[in-house]
Amino acid sequence: MHKTKVHSITDNRGGLVSLESGINIPFDIKRVYYLYNLNDEARGFHAHLKLRQFLICVSGSCTVKLDDGETSSNFTLNDPTEGIFVERLLWREMHNFSKDCVLLVIADAHYDECDYIRNYEDFLKLVRTDT
Ligand code: TYD
Repeated sequence: MHKTKVHSITDNRGGLVSLESGINIPFDIKRVYYLYNLNDEARGFHAHLKLRQFLICVSGSCTVKLDDGETSSNFTLNDPTEGIFVERLLWREMHNFSKDCVLLVIADAHYDECDYIRNYEDFLKLVRTDT
């Protein structure tokens, strides 16, 4: 689990980041969504059976906590040229949203509630039996 830098095309007008399947995103992009206008309530608190995602704070900052069932790590996202790949079976929580935070999420599948694990004990059971 680590943050990934994405290339920015920057000139005197500003920066431009392009996210492309098979170029800097290692999966086919099926869905893009973003969280914005956030308050101090943490979000997430789930894992996914299959879904792969890339999270990038395109404005402001937040903390992403990732837990693989054995260890958990906190990542500060505060740079629109730096994101984090969140693979399947990782418990994720998002905390400490700045007022101007816009958290962009790129995913390899459409929204499917059946892919969610929303109970932490179920998540631990699953990671311990997953092969
Ligand atoms: P939720 O999973 O609670 O968001 P978070 O993980 O950020 O805490 O999702 C909030 C609501 O939005 C919930 O009713 C499911 C719905 N939703 C969609 O309809 N499509 C989507 O792509 C996502 C991510 C959520």
